[in-house]
Amino acid sequence: MKKELQEKLVGFPIEEFRHNLLSWYKAEKRDLPWRMDQDPYKIWVSEIMLQQTRVDTVIPYFHNFIEKFPTIEALATADEEDVLKAWEGLGYYSRVRNLHAAVKEVKEVYGGIVPNTPEEISKLKGVGPYTRGAILSIAYDIPEPAVDGNVMRVFSRILSIWEDIAKPKSRKTFEDATYELISKEDPSSFNQAVMELGALICTPTSPSCLLCPVREQCTAFEEGVQAELPVKSKKKKPKPLQMAAVVLYDEQGKLYIHKRPSSGLLANLWEYPNVEIDADSEKTYREQLNQFLLEEYTVEADLSELVGTVEHIFSHLIWNISVFVGKINNQPNKDLLPVTLEELQKYAFPVSHQKIYRLYEAEGTAGR
Ligand code: ADE
Repeated sequence: MKKELQEKLVGFPIEEFRHNLLSWYKAEKRDLPWRMDQDPYKIWVSEIMLQQTRVDTVIPYFHNFIEKFPTIEALATADEEDVLKAWEGLGYYSRVRNLHAAVKEVKEVYGGIVPNTPEEISKLKGVGPYTRGAILSIAYDIPEPAVDGNVMRVFSRILSIWEDIAKPKSRKTFEDATYELISKEDPSSFNQAVMELGALICTPTSPSCLLCPVREQCTAFEEGVQAELPVKSKKKKPKPLQMAAVVLYDEQGKLYIHKRPSSGLLANLWEYPNVEIDADSEKTYREQLNQFLLEEYTVEADLSELVGTVEHIFSHLIWNISVFVGKINNQPNKDLLPVTLEELQKYAFPVSHQKIYRLYEAEGTAGR
């Protein structure tokens, strides 16, 4: 442990902090669906969903996912297509591909029981230090830290820690702090209480210090610097990318969809044919799209004029998609799958491509 942190902990009223935090949590905690029991599988699913996604968004997905895949066994034996479909719209899809692979491993290697040691649990795909600590503490009552951005915010204020929480190496400081502060009697409630405090009271902007159960123990409040913490350097701006996409249909009303590659962005999800556009080219977007369809899929199609645009912001890039529809005039190659509207429902699409479909639908009702 760093000397600086050690010094901050020396005079810190640990017992009062724990007691006030835990009493508050017991009285005020939200009835969240993953708090109904301590099933390690459900805790695991919830913690994966909650990474990069807000509680309100996660709740309906969690209910649906657990209804479809109530146990390790059910998820381990499920089709990848159905699993992706249950995640459709949540984003960061590598989370669910890793979860699926890891659950299969738990079934095969650990007889369907989520392991309860840091060493074993860390070997599972997609289980990093945060998820490891969350499962061990919340499900198994083992006093391990589960440090995410919210926990770093809370402890940066409680202990007045001025390290940049955007830097990966800062996590260690907060883990060291948690090992000292965590309740050894009730690590499950302790870690959840810190998360709850971060969600309800110790919010990123304008924290509700006057309602805070640990205000008396909070160094930042005492120093009046709660608004300046945590220190968090800004990420790079996402880079805009110009794209064109087309909803191809045939005389029978079938649509033509493409499965994305098994690695990279949105891996294994389905999409409408699309290509990155060279905005500086002499050629129009429509011409560039036509050329791509011919070269990539041997498709000859009558493309519409522009029917609309879709923007989607990822953490590192922005898709600006110009959307066309097109009647297909020949048989494309095997990389495009013709589907009926009913079949379409089974496949998982990124949100941006769901929006593309809606533009096609609107265009249809406008008189195609
Ligand atoms: N954010 C991450 N994990 C959480 C949990 N278990 N409860 C509420 N919010 C969370």
